[in-house]
Amino acid sequence: MKLSGRRVLLGVTGGIAAFKIPSLVRALKREGAEVRVVLTEGARAFVTPLTLETVSGARVFLPEDFLRPQGGFIPHTELARWAELVLVAPATASFLSALRMGDASSLLVACLLATEAPGLIFPAMNEKMWSHPATQENVQILRNWGYTVVSPDEGPLACGESGPGRLPSEEVILAYARRLLSPPDLSGLRVVVTCGPTREPVDLVRYLSNRSSGRMGLALAQAAFERGAEVVLIHGPLSVPIPPLFTRVPVETTAEMQEALLEHFPAADVLFMVAAVADYRPVNFRAEKIKRRERLVLELEPTPDLLAEVSRKRRPGQVIVGFAAEEAENLASEAARKLRQKGLDLLVANPIDRPGAGFEAETNEVLILDREGRRIELSRRPKEEIAEKILDQVVRLRETS
Ligand code: CTP
Repeated sequence: MKLSGRRVLLGVTGGIAAFKIPSLVRALKREGAEVRVVLTEGARAFVTPLTLETVSGARVFLPEDFLRPQGGFIPHTELARWAELVLVAPATASFLSALRMGDASSLLVACLLATEAPGLIFPAMNEKMWSHPATQENVQILRNWGYTVVSPDEGPLACGESGPGRLPSEEVILAYARRLLSPPDLSGLRVVVTCGPTREPVDLVRYLSNRSSGRMGLALAQAAFERGAEVVLIHGPLSVPIPPLFTRVPVETTAEMQEALLEHFPAADVLFMVAAVADYRPVNFRAEKIKRRERLVLELEPTPDLLAEVSRKRRPGQVIVGFAAEEAENLASEAARKLRQKGLDLLVANPIDRPGAGFEAETNEVLILDREGRRIELSRRPKEEIAEKILDQVVRLRETS
């Protein structure tokens, strides 16, 4: 639990999405965070102090507390010193304006001016208010000052309109909170992750592919994001949703993945080649729907080895991590062969013939080999945990290279 014991000051301002905040407080608490809430006058109309006090298990700070410090407790400076992260959700247009102007007449803005903790702000409002130049300029200035202002999600809005304006999901808010509170050991690094299967069309309606879900790649991409990296996700068709934390490059065929990789690899510091690239493709694509007959022979040719190709083009300092799915019996020997033949820094191999590992599973068990001959075996555990261990190895390899 990355937020365990971390002190989060949560500012709530007066937008309709404030009704979601008690649930966010519970999610933060489940992750072990300590949460104190500051409500603005506007927020009070949407969510009650009693609810927030009950879910946070701590006193909620209201506008009038700013004017009446009790027993020598000066709320804005005390809270500013206490906080390790100030999270504002939802943030209204007028809150963004007040912060941009340094207008400390509300307790929440005063806390933000008085704190050294990072500020994480989630605007949510009508989409025209969001795209208004006043709001956009305020957001730009706050970003220039170092605040993390996360653009709202697109979708139906409470006002009946549709567009960018929705508060992002709890999972996304938590991912950003973890990013700002974790040791930023991948900070400033560009990480490319490929994941999911590729599809090779046979005819207008059929394709060759495999059962990769994309879960392991997404777990790595999210863990890298939370440790400070900028992540480009090159992905085939996935069976799980992709959180809006990455630059997404959707592809379908191996040739499209190759093109995307050749575009994004040169600027990458680390490549995780998690994709289950289709190994064969039909020699001839049939631009029709093939009719059922007695017997059909498809002629297939191997796809190019994308990993070996980028590995040949690497520049010094780039770390390349490959993956392999093998029968348990051949796992170690095949992993060693692929590490060597593809010129990798790290190879992560998992068995395909054990329950709770490999394709479509939520857990995995892996053998990790590195270029220096190290060997790490990880028993069955959630893919998120495996992802953290793989990242630890990447950090170590970067330190020693
Ligand atoms: N890979 C790739 N291009 C391919 C096939 C695989 O880049 N055409 C990458 C995968 O993304 C993975 C690694 O190579 O990171 C190993 O994939 P795997 O399918 O196990 O390797 P193959 O080279 O296909 O070996 P084999 O078929 O002999 O098992």
